[in-house]
Amino acid sequence: DLIHLEARPYFPQLKNDTFLRAARGEQTQHVPVWCMRQAGRYLPEFREFRAGKDFFDTCRSPEACCELTLQPLRRFDFDASIIFSDILVVPQAMGMEVQMVPGKGPTFPDPLKDPEDLQRLKTKVDVQKELDYVFKAITLTRHKIEGKVPLIGFTGAPWTLMSYMIEGSGSKTFSKVKSWLYRYPEVSHMLLKRLTDVIVDYLLGQVAAGAQALQVFESHAGILGPVEFKAFCLPYLRDIARRVKDQLKETGQDVPMIVFAKDAHYGLEDLSQSYYDVVSLDWTIDPRLAREQTGGKVSLQGNMDPCALYAPKERISEIVKTMLEGFGTQRYIANLGHGMYPDMDPESVAAFVEAVHKHSRQMNKQ
Ligand code: CP3
Repeated sequence: DLIHLEARPYFPQLKNDTFLRAARGEQTQHVPVWCMRQAGRYLPEFREFRAGKDFFDTCRSPEACCELTLQPLRRFDFDASIIFSDILVVPQAMGMEVQMVPGKGPTFPDPLKDPEDLQRLKTKVDVQKELDYVFKAITLTRHKIEGKVPLIGFTGAPWTLMSYMIEGSGSKTFSKVKSWLYRYPEVSHMLLKRLTDVIVDYLLGQVAAGAQALQVFESHAGILGPVEFKAFCLPYLRDIARRVKDQLKETGQDVPMIVFAKDAHYGLEDLSQSYYDVVSLDWTIDPRLAREQTGGKVSLQGNMDPCALYAPKERISEIVKTMLEGFGTQRYIANLGHGMYPDMDPESVAAFVEAVHKHSRQMNKQ
């Protein structure tokens, strides 16, 4: 059997369920907080641990992933953790080579160039086998975290992964992958469908391994216009959540799902009606407007400008207070609007976390 979905009663008991409660829309005493890329180069202990090791070798070591996931929890009072891994392990599992080139970022030496290249991808992906190292990392971390906070699993979304597989790296214009959408729409849909199938198995495998929530990163949503978003992003995002939720329901499990479609303003209303429990927002969206557009149907996550962490501590506290007033303190998970940068000061993260907890407790008393 590919995926065992039984509950795992032998994991340590969860001590802080604030994040899960907010995700499910239940009352919380304070606003839970975590940061995208909370395990990263801004931490000296992360740089020390990663020094001289290849990035994807690190991803393939469950012990290393566990250690890097736990590092930020030793320093900060976060209400959730996210497993250390990368979204590009999925294209690797489908048969593509990906390298992490220092100073350049992820690079595919042999990206997909034209529709025939789809033949280079494995037709049948044994997710349980190919991504076993991620599942092992999750199970190990779930034990080692000792129930302190919930562990989030994640995946890249189909469109974002397709864009890396065709561009071969990051891009300013994304003209290669966008040209596929206009020249080969049917082949594009075939590729997105194949990614979706792998992603569904991958997320279910993560839950079976011990993930207590799931986040889907559609980091490149914003390079599309509303028409292309509705055609090439939204249907697959919906399909992923619906299929994962349906399968989990069969075994009586309810695992909150978060969707992060960066810069997709026009997609907010649709995303709030796409089977996800939480919509995660980048910093360009006004909290009150986001509440209006999502109509109180989902919880919201985000969305402080990561660069606000460069501000003095007192200013960070003010920015957080304004953000909390915009979102309100319920059905809300505080986070940044995108990942942290390597030159950020860990002290600022501590100030951010403290401000969220302090202001939200005060607001809840009023
Ligand atoms: O703490 C966490 O948030 C968990 C771990 C995590 C990583 N990558 C670790 C990582 C997560 C959730 C990701 C997801 C990811 N990876 C995304 C989606 C989120 C987003 O940022 O929009 C994307 C687009 C990637 C692809 C990727 N991996 C990029 C663009 C980079 C940066 C390359 C660079 O040189 O800065 C990576 C590398 C990466 N992934 C790092 C970390 C901590 C830094 C590199 C290192 O440790 O050597």
